[in-house]
Amino acid sequence: MQTLWDRHLSQGAREIRSSAIRDLLHVTERPEVISFAGGLPAPECFPAEALKIAAEQVLTENPRLALQYGPTEGYRPLRDWIRGHMADRDVAVPGEQVLLSSGSQQGLDLIGKLLIDPGAPVAVEAPTYLGALQAWYPYRPRFVTLPTDEDGLDVAALERLLQDGERPRFVYVVSSFQNPGGTTLSPARRQRLIELAATYQLPIIEDDPYGELVYEGDRAPLLASLDVALHGELRHVVYLSTFSKLLAPGLRVGWIITPAGLARRLVEAKQGLDLHTGSLVQAMIYEACRTGLLDTHIPHLRHVYRERRDTMLGALQEHLAGAARWNIPQGGMFLWLTLAEQIDAGSLLRSALEHHVAFVPGTAFFANGGGANTMRLNFSNAAPHRIGEGVQRLWLALEALTSAGVAV
Ligand SMILES: Cc1ncc(COP(=O)(O)O)c(C=O)c1O
Repeated sequence: MQTLWDRHLSQGAREIRSSAIRDLLHVTERPEVISFAGGLPAPECFPAEALKIAAEQVLTENPRLALQYGPTEGYRPLRDWIRGHMADRDVAVPGEQVLLSSGSQQGLDLIGKLLIDPGAPVAVEAPTYLGALQAWYPYRPRFVTLPTDEDGLDVAALERLLQDGERPRFVYVVSSFQNPGGTTLSPARRQRLIELAATYQLPIIEDDPYGELVYEGDRAPLLASLDVALHGELRHVVYLSTFSKLLAPGLRVGWIITPAGLARRLVEAKQGLDLHTGSLVQAMIYEACRTGLLDTHIPHLRHVYRERRDTMLGALQEHLAGAARWNIPQGGMFLWLTLAEQIDAGSLLRSALEHHVAFVPGTAFFANGGGANTMRLNFSNAAPHRIGEGVQRLWLALEALTSAGVAV
């Protein structure tokens, strides 16, 4: 039945869709379920003690500042710290181009608000981060999907699109250890993408929550750093990152490194959203960063997550070799599985939930459909012994599905 509120919804609000992952979280909270579904960090790795000390310090030394309204741009000392951190990655920008956001998710929404008109083309990877699609649906873009392979976004496909006259408002790329695919854009493709951005005056949104979670191999240069190297200033890339995966997602603090021309507009748009990100939490994070927490914490996370990734790869090899293909991500939190053509991952999920194991079917990550036989597995959240058990349950679920003759 249509309610008063259904009839009064704006056109944009009619496009809002629930996230397949957030919907699954209700099920995965049950203790008997082993979840590879959410993109959740390992809760036992949260640096609770260090954050408690930081909170105590801030509330003792500077409560009037930490509990007061603050600037929309973010807490100045934390912005300065991030500026230094980014300069270490060869992205040196003036202070006013460093902004704090309430998670990267808010940065994505702000970008949608500023850059998308109804019907405007927006280029995204296939598959891409579901939360970006969710943030942008209400602005009603026309999503143009670009294929990906083991080297990340197919930049040649983008080039063909541009040559054919398509002019996306921006290209959205999760450049390292992508969510959901686990892939990393190769250095050669990064270079080409930045050249295309310059040739076609094409904005690039580089979303990089996982870049620090590297388990082997060299880190590729940031797209933002290549842009700075080419022009002597940040010109075509808006760079997003977050403390969600480095400290804890419940803090809800991310950062945006923006070309000068967009900085003011981002700040004004954020004013209307939430005035500013929480003062106390920004001051706590600064305190934790200032005292060097990340220098020990990031290596610890790398160690723990590498082990979990390897455990999952071992279990997949043991139980699912022959039934699926998967990649070996060199960092991040996700593995991408491709099942036999005729197996529908949505049907497999229903069978999997009966076996008390969860994952996200791949279709959710494709803006224009596809990927019915693909799925995303998170390896950072479950403890190693649960990972082995969960993969075995997945195999049982697949056996049950195929022996029942259920395909699509
Ligand atoms: C690619 C990507 N971008 C952005 C986000 C949102 O992060 P935050 O917690 O900072 O809002 C996530 C979270 O999983 C993500 O995977």
